[in-house]
Amino acid sequence: MSTQKVVIITGASQGIGAGLVEAYRRLGYAVVANSRSIKPSDDPSVIAVAGDIADPGTAEALVSTALERFGRIDSLVNNAGIFTAKPFTDFTAQDYQDNIDINIGGFFHLTQRVITRLLEQGDGGHIVNVTTTLVESANSGIPSVLASVTKGGLAAATKSLAIEYAERGIRVNAVSPGFIDTPIQGGASPEQLAQLHPNKRTGTVDDIAKGVVYLEQSPLVTGEFLHIDGGLSAGR
Ligand SMILES: NC(=O)c1ccc[n+]([C@@H]2O[C@H](COP(=O)([O-])OP(=O)(O)OC[C@H]3O[C@@H](n4cnc5c(N)ncnc54)[C@H](OP(=O)(O)O)[C@@H]3O)[C@@H](O)[C@H]2O)c1
Repeated sequence: MSTQKVVIITGASQGIGAGLVEAYRRLGYAVVANSRSIKPSDDPSVIAVAGDIADPGTAEALVSTALERFGRIDSLVNNAGIFTAKPFTDFTAQDYQDNIDINIGGFFHLTQRVITRLLEQGDGGHIVNVTTTLVESANSGIPSVLASVTKGGLAAATKSLAIEYAERGIRVNAVSPGFIDTPIQGGASPEQLAQLHPNKRTGTVDDIAKGVVYLEQSPLVTGEFLHIDGGLSAGR
């Protein structure tokens, strides 16, 4: 069996997820990369699995592909997510369902299957959840309660899973981005995004990838939320 480490990354077609694919490849990992629209890669160590992460069948396909193509799973980054910003009373039933199904359901279906496999392998593993600083530091200009509900759920689950599996060598961490320059920002300029951070720096995909790599390489770190947010979580 191959000794190459293997990571599953969701939401990997663009933005933070695409940066994470490159970062894990630089670490030597084989990657199983998912999004709804993801295209096959020229890199033989990156296997794309297209599918909606809200569908348990996608989680099944990601795990079985990792095992068939690379023989094992070491890490998972739950990065796929949607962000619906609107006043609380404007949210529709569909907004609610989509946020729950993608941001929470996607995490649940896949993480459960990956942890089951990690326990079978018996040599530990690492899960990273991508949450948001808005969970702890709400912004009156960006009302987004469904992000708070769903990403806040992931943040709480990070600690809960970290403790449940600590003695079995499975670490569970989160990165908490501020405002990162990706397509999810809907065309806001890097300069506009920088103004949302206390230190007035634009957050980049590379900033988040560096944080995930740190967590990946830090055996003593579990149950941690790594804020990568230009100081937002500290105050404003
Ligand atoms: N950028 C920020 O400032 C920021 C801040 C805090 C948290 N985050 C979080 O960081 C994560 C990545 O965000 P990003 O900024 O890189 O956003 P992005 O550029 O919009 O990328 C989102 C990725 O998720 C995929 N995706 C969306 N819905 C999916 C679904 N149902 N099933 C599978 N894949 C799906 C998208 O691809 P397809 O369309 O092909 O499915 C895409 O690859 C998200 O969870 C987001 O909430 C971002």
